Amino acid sequence: MERVGVVGCGLMGSGIAEIAARAGAHVVVVERDRAALESGRTRIEKSLTRAVASGKVPEGEAEGARDHLNFSLDYGDLGDREIVVEAVAENESIKIDVFRTLDAVVADPLAILATNTSSIPIIKLAMATKRPEQVIGMHFFNPVPVLKLVELISSLLTSPDTAERSRAYCTEHLSKRVITSPDRAGFVVNALLIPYLLSAIRMLESGFASAEDIDVGMMVGCAHPMGPLALTDLIGLDTTMAVAESLYEEFKEPHLAPPPLLSRMTQAGLMGRKSGQGFFSYRS
Ligand code: CAA
Repeated sequence: MERVGVVGCGLMGSGIAEIAARAGAHVVVVERDRAALESGRTRIEKSLTRAVASGKVPEGEAEGARDHLNFSLDYGDLGDREIVVEAVAENESIKIDVFRTLDAVVADPLAILATNTSSIPIIKLAMATKRPEQVIGMHFFNPVPVLKLVELISSLLTSPDTAERSRAYCTEHLSKRVITSPDRAGFVVNALLIPYLLSAIRMLESGFASAEDIDVGMMVGCAHPMGPLALTDLIGLDTTMAVAESLYEEFKEPHLAPPPLLSRMTQAGLMGRKSGQGFFSYRS
């Protein structure tokens, strides 16, 4: 895969674009407006600078990545791509619109149209195109440059060839570890992770324990790299909320319903790290 496209340059899209460019592909990143595009460009630049400073990435590789990255507001620039990874907000109607547009602009009928959705059924996005065989879930983990996992999700209509080429792209080009999941809300990881995060939020909401004690408990007691509330802040409260809603819609189990505290904080714009305040403060 030498010509890669990424739609959306938020937390996930910027990471996906960074690793694709570092792997040597020519990458076109498309965003909806100039402000979003500039903040995505800045996020990638910060990540590359930090990776070089910590000795994780050679300067030459970071320089190569910068040369390989192109930013655009025009979906038409994705016309010649071999693979496009969609990473816009976790909202079904927005993602369906993106897939409709990709179907119209991507010329190669064998190009892979992948989605980084955490929870929306892949088949719904596939059916927005006239080429559902080429549509697949390719779910990365935040921070994308650091975490090695990708979940690959074939819908009932994804072709074996698309699945094989997607696996090869993730393992051989991006050096990721792949697991496969059926097309069910939450896939493997979020089906396990989100109920855990929601339980921590309920524990805080009921006054059972403080935010600090909940997080220290899991970090020090279970050797997790971060506690569940800090992790919710990292993922974004809006994204956590969206994934919980998809899980609840699919399985209708009470423990999957977003707790009121998560809804109120999301409505208040307290989204976690990206807004500077979530369960913890990130304002300097
Ligand atoms: N490329 C390569 N390496 C990089 C890098 C880059 N762009 N940026 C940073 N790194 C390296 C750093 O050099 C550092 O390496 P060392 O540990 O060897 O020094 C390492 O990555 C960690 O970087 P930080 O200094 O930023 O990290 P930290 O030690 O404070 O760890 C963390 C932060 C990586 C986020 C860690 O706390 C962690 O792994 N937390 C759990 C995150 C998690 O569970 N994510 C999954 C969220 S769920 C999801 O994403 C799916 C969904 O659908 C909701």
